[in-house]
Amino acid sequence: MATTPQQVIEPLPLQNRVAIITGSSRGIGREIAIHLSSLGARIVINHSSSNSLSADSLAADINATSPLPRATVIGADISDQSQVQSLFDSAERFFNSPIHILINCAGVIDDTYPSIANTSIESFDRVFGVNARGAFLCAREAANRLKRGGGGRIILFSSSQVAALRPGFAAYTAAKAAVETMTKILAKELKGTGITANCVAPGPIATEMFFGGRTEEQVQKIIDESPLGRLGETKDVAPLVGFLASDAGEWVNGQIIRINGDDMADGATFAVVDLSKTFALPL
Ligand SMILES: NC(=O)c1ccc[n+]([C@@H]2O[C@H](COP(=O)([O-])OP(=O)(O)OC[C@H]3O[C@@H](n4cnc5c(N)ncnc54)[C@H](OP(=O)(O)O)[C@@H]3O)[C@@H](O)[C@H]2O)c1
Repeated sequence: MATTPQQVIEPLPLQNRVAIITGSSRGIGREIAIHLSSLGARIVINHSSSNSLSADSLAADINATSPLPRATVIGADISDQSQVQSLFDSAERFFNSPIHILINCAGVIDDTYPSIANTSIESFDRVFGVNARGAFLCAREAANRLKRGGGGRIILFSSSQVAALRPGFAAYTAAKAAVETMTKILAKELKGTGITANCVAPGPIATEMFFGGRTEEQVQKIIDESPLGRLGETKDVAPLVGFLASDAGEWVNGQIIRINGDDMADGATFAVVDLSKTFALPL
């Protein structure tokens, strides 16, 4: 009697690995959460505001595809040490598993785009507090707690502004430059753990952060400057993060990866709209 060949089901690239994605209630982080979930990961959706509607609906969408919970929402302000610790504690408890992947995507910008002369202490502290201190706190927790021996991944977020160095972005760019420096050192310090550390540095991506404080004309100018004639989309970034998080991405370590459609070349022109406050520039 003829036998039917058994169908072999290959495991997904991130099957059952636990990924914390900070700042994933919207924007780039949200897209990464959806993408890593499609690769088999179990997802911790994080954000800091009291409104968790979009985070909750994302978790519900992911969980609707599986009989077991594959996503949970854990609120935490990444600039606060104890909240970062409890983010990791709660994630480990919820999935009863060590964490395999940290994607630190949470970030803020001052959307008045002030020159250094016009940057308030409050603005500087907020931008450094979330973007630099927050990245440090998350990376430190991950360096101490991520699974050893393969599959451990730390992916931090910077900006192509660190290469472009445009006016109006000093505090934001300096905070992101600190993140890039930490990433390179962290990758070396993690020797022997099997954990890699990389930094993704997008150019203009169509999200709430990008559109904040910009007029339609300013946005159009940025599109006109782009060699590909469009803004980046969150879908342009998520697959790169998925690759870095996978076993196939292991050999990429200690790198800063600019992903910007070549829209952020050094020396590119920018539109100064109001010299006292506002610069119509890409992020
Ligand atoms: N969009 C761009 O053009 C662009 C370009 C270069 C780099 N980037 C970087 O890419 C990352 C994502 O940007 P995006 O455009 O997706 O931003 P976004 O749309 O403004 O989303 C930011 C996310 O971070 C969360 N968040 C903000 N402060 C937080 C905190 N203290 N603790 C925890 N979560 C916090 C927000 O939720 P809550 O408000 O609820 O906290 C939200 O989920 C950022 O690091 C940004 O600097 C973006």
